[in-house]
Amino acid sequence: MKKLTLLALLIFIGIQFIPMNVPAEVPTKADEELQAPKNVQAILKRSCFDCHSNHTTFPWYSNIAPVSWFTKHHVEEGREHMNFSTWEKYDDEKKLKYLQKIPKAIKSKMPLPSYLLIHKEAKLTEADKEALTTWANDTAFDLE
Ligand code: HEC
Repeated sequence: MKKLTLLALLIFIGIQFIPMNVPAEVPTKADEELQAPKNVQAILKRSCFDCHSNHTTFPWYSNIAPVSWFTKHHVEEGREHMNFSTWEKYDDEKKLKYLQKIPKAIKSKMPLPSYLLIHKEAKLTEADKEALTTWANDTAFDLE
């Protein structure tokens, strides 16, 4: 029994050395950040920016493997899919693609349920969803 505990401890320590280097802050050009009305900006900041921007707040335990593996992977993937910190650099076609996906995404899986377990403040209210959907549809309409 003692041997097993020791082995588990050694494995736990060992995995801490597997690197998962996703920086919380990535240098960003101010003029590439999303330009949106204040209320929309506030909702996105509260519920989406941890994964879809270059400004992530990592809680302390997200630096500890194996938690770090999936939290940081989500951020890496989230930024790759759609990054509000480089939004103004996207061409119209790409913006349109994302704008059309946002209403559907917030109805089904965004913010990710595993994230909401810990970040209760990120849960979208019906009013938040309506504000985001209206903004996405109106902005898409202007681009079309
Ligand atoms: C915990 C991290 C996390 C949070 C918070 C989060 N997302 Fe995501 N998002 C992801 C990941 C990972 C993907 C890519 C995989 C997928 O589609 O499930 C994604 C994909 C998306 C996509 C699809 C993009 C594409 O390329 O098809 C949209 C749209 C989206 N998210 C919108 C949002 C919005 C809006 C919010 C805030 C209300 C939000 N997300 C919050 C992690 C997150």
